[in-house]
Amino acid sequence: MAKRSTKSSNTSDRKKSTADPKQADLLKDTTDGTDKVLTSNQGLPINDNQNSLKAGLRGPTLLEDHLLREKITHFDHERIPERAVHARGSGAHGYFQVYKSMSAVTQAGFLNDPARRTPVFVRFSTVAGSRGSADAVRDARGFAVKFYTEEGIYDLVGNNIPVFFIQDAIKFPDLIHAVKPEPHHEMPQAASAHDTFWDFISLMPESMHMIMWVMSDRAIPRSYRMMEGFGVHTFRFVNAKGEGRFVKFHWKPLLGVHSLAWDEATKINGKDADFHRRDLWEAIEGGNFPEWELGVQIVEDKDEHKYPFDLLDPTKLIPEELVPVQRIGRMTLDRNPTNFFAETEQVAFHPAHLVPGIDFSNDPLLQGRLFSYTDTQLSRLGSANFNELPINRPIVPVHNNQRDGHMRHGINADRVSYEPNTLGGGCPYQAMVKEGGFVSFPEPVEGVKVRGKSEKFHDHYSQAALFYRSQSVPEQNHLINALRFELGKLEVTAVRERMIGQLAYVDADLAERVAEAFDIDVPEVELPLNRSIPADTDPQSVQPYDEQIVVERSAALSMQNTIKDSIKTRCVAILVTDEGAAEAAELKKALERNGAVVKIIAPVKRDLSTGKTALPVDHALMTTSSVLFDAVAVIGGKDTWKKFPDAKDFLSDPFRHSKAIALVGDAADLLTAWGIVPAAAKAIPGVVTGRDSKGITAAFITAVAAHRHWEREVDPLTGAGA
Ligand code: HEM
Repeated sequence: MAKRSTKSSNTSDRKKSTADPKQADLLKDTTDGTDKVLTSNQGLPINDNQNSLKAGLRGPTLLEDHLLREKITHFDHERIPERAVHARGSGAHGYFQVYKSMSAVTQAGFLNDPARRTPVFVRFSTVAGSRGSADAVRDARGFAVKFYTEEGIYDLVGNNIPVFFIQDAIKFPDLIHAVKPEPHHEMPQAASAHDTFWDFISLMPESMHMIMWVMSDRAIPRSYRMMEGFGVHTFRFVNAKGEGRFVKFHWKPLLGVHSLAWDEATKINGKDADFHRRDLWEAIEGGNFPEWELGVQIVEDKDEHKYPFDLLDPTKLIPEELVPVQRIGRMTLDRNPTNFFAETEQVAFHPAHLVPGIDFSNDPLLQGRLFSYTDTQLSRLGSANFNELPINRPIVPVHNNQRDGHMRHGINADRVSYEPNTLGGGCPYQAMVKEGGFVSFPEPVEGVKVRGKSEKFHDHYSQAALFYRSQSVPEQNHLINALRFELGKLEVTAVRERMIGQLAYVDADLAERVAEAFDIDVPEVELPLNRSIPADTDPQSVQPYDEQIVVERSAALSMQNTIKDSIKTRCVAILVTDEGAAEAAELKKALERNGAVVKIIAPVKRDLSTGKTALPVDHALMTTSSVLFDAVAVIGGKDTWKKFPDAKDFLSDPFRHSKAIALVGDAADLLTAWGIVPAAAKAIPGVVTGRDSKGITAAFITAVAAHRHWEREVDPLTGAGA
């Protein structure tokens, strides 16, 4: 029988290069059936995989059929529980390298040696949706990085938002129960626009800062590659002398921080529910390796109480104006997983996976997380031995006396499994500090047992207001419209009213504009309902205020100030028929020279003729949509496009979503011809028109680099801007 090879380029590339120690480690367990005979799980070659064993051709199947039973039994058990949160995710391999030694502040080996390339596995995720839910939903995104260091595994399990909803781990199950689909009818999927979520939030003033972030466009990222990441909690750096400092971690994407428009996101979820997963996969397969710089904000111990917020409060960030972010290294993702289940699904992150040089702080949310992850992974991965799974095991050997249990892989050859011992020569022995033995930072702690929180934790609104004030006008508009949408979906009026009351504490104008959507007055602001504030406390009295260090606006909080000087990896659709093929080929070449990814769209998927060569069509119009692209060019073909309803959407959507548009030849007046803009409109921001593609190329590139032209937006509630 002919032996067929169906190996993807992805697989063969991986086999070639094994310089990466984690890749080499994974290869030990990687199998590939190409050119191999089919066997049972016991290695028995199988001769007939089509027919079960029967008593006669029309008779019943025999219990004896061990091959049928083995295959079906395995199939019956192929699913594991999805993650309790962050169930929907996508992963990639890569590496991290520090720019220069950070040994003055941390002894972490991977942050000390600029020559060291530390392998990483990163998993991005949404929080609320289940494993099969859509990517472009409004939600925080997980940003979890596993560093396979020479000192063991370090996990930085962060989000794309620098703060969190709650201050104390004891509230986490309540938060997640509130945001997950409502228990009686399991709706809505992967969405916060429902009563239980806002009921909870309206009673949790500490969530107001995070609410500003999740109602902003940060919660609908354009791509995982264009998101920031944050460790959220304050951690500790510890150097070789044992000196500690507080540290906050940041990931800064080299492509800048970019988002979708809300209407666009809802359409993307219908057109391509795997939008972010596909984007990450295709970028890596195409050699456009996503990169982030690791940033740190370091606070000396003596400054612990200097700020108007508590460093241990995960609902607060440290404004970059107060403590600048030092960029200390770079992470590059350059390899897609070989097998989604084995890597992306089975990976187990944990904020307690530490290396010497990094330690925890007493942040009460972090402290609770330290319990949660192993606990949940025991049921998700089904055994205490999940650390032995290829994706989870470190690149350094593991020696201890933890033994046995379900699905144990390792074969421990030692006679003893206890310590101290003499029969085993005292091994494995404790590592001395100079051998890299981990020592917890000896932070002095004293106090009485108490259920409560420190004074500064009661300021729930200052940083929510800082975030809102720091947004550009279009960003504020989007945030307001997100709140109008979410609160507009509520069935219970009292919840909506309570939320407007909360927003009034953040910013009066914000509350007024959200309330406009419901024809209700902004109520007199009520006392926050947080029980830890005595009922007769004026909320203003618990807002710490120090003239010296209050930041009015923080430029780093606005995406308006992000990188907008390149079209690298931006996806551009060129809508074209045969008559514009030569022009389209020219434009495609020019855009690709500048790093864009260009797709040719035509009525039918067949090659177009430029006169000299063939121009391959990537997608037929009916199989794609302009919401999946960053910018659109239409080259001629006006009479043809008139016949296609999809063609009008192909232009009206990017116009509505403020994307760059190029209209060439007789397509130049399509926006007015189709009534997308009034006939009187002249220069429209982000729309370039011209007789030929050469004439518009430079202006189009500038327009695409700007990402969006929000000046074109129409307010969906008031119609302002139309
Ligand atoms: C007390 C608060 C929290 C608890 C109890 C908690 C619990 C959990 C649990 C149970 C999982 C599923 C883990 C698994 O099945 O492997 C998870 C995943 C995750 N959590 Fe948390 N979480 C908390 C707060 C946070 C915060 C503040 C962040 C961000 C800084 C965060 C980031 C993540 C990420 C990124 C994942 C997904 C990891 C992956 O991709 O596999 N969590 N969390």
